[in-house]
Amino acid sequence: MNILTAPSLFACDLINIEKEIYRTEAAGADMIHFDIMDGVYVPNLSIGFDLLRAVRSVTDLPIDAHMMTVNPQNYIQRLADAGADIITIHSDIADTPAIRRILEEIHNYGLMAAVALKPKVPASAVIPYLDLCDMILVMTVEPGFSGQSFMDMSEKIRMIKEYIGSDPISIQVDGGINEETVKVCAKAGANVFVVGSAAYRAKSMKETLTNIKNNAKEAYCD
Ligand code: DX5
Ligand code: ZN
Repeated sequence: MNILTAPSLFACDLINIEKEIYRTEAAGADMIHFDIMDGVYVPNLSIGFDLLRAVRSVTDLPIDAHMMTVNPQNYIQRLADAGADIITIHSDIADTPAIRRILEEIHNYGLMAAVALKPKVPASAVIPYLDLCDMILVMTVEPGFSGQSFMDMSEKIRMIKEYIGSDPISIQVDGGINEETVKVCAKAGANVFVVGSAAYRAKSMKETLTNIKNNAKEAYCD
């Protein structure tokens, strides 16, 4: 699997977002992670469609909309119109048939689909969705805020990697990822790394993302 970095724009200097996007590109990021929060699924509000559209207008990097919202099905069309490439929804926002319908709808718009697991949700929660997922997101913090401490989810990642087998499904981690914490995640089988504060607060984002990628490649178990 390709090892990829996905800086989380939510953690950037938002007043200078255009410059931050160019800085992100120049640092060699592979995609942009775009956190959408509704104040219901998580106790925080973040950024929405209009900003996603604006971001889309200045970059060709793939954009992953991480939907921390209770009713993501209400927003798929608008996310597609605004220019998202990947939509990630949480596993615990609806029952299995409803989640499957949302993933199918995401694919019907020609986008990639991912299911996210909060720290307390077990690995087995992804099993009913593997045939409809391009990526699984394992949260390594409670969703809602940047800058929290990393929680080791290696065991969960390992189990998901087993369920996936040889299917081309990425495993992404999000929350507290830096040059050190990336290692246990990659060793367990994660290959896509969301980086918020460690990227945007680094002296050199390029150096940090390069180190994260190199450390991940070194530790990655296939
Ligand atoms: C948290 C968000 C993350 C966050 C990551 O709920 O999903 O994407 O911005 O930020 P760090 O890397 O600082 O934990
Ligand atoms: Zn996120």
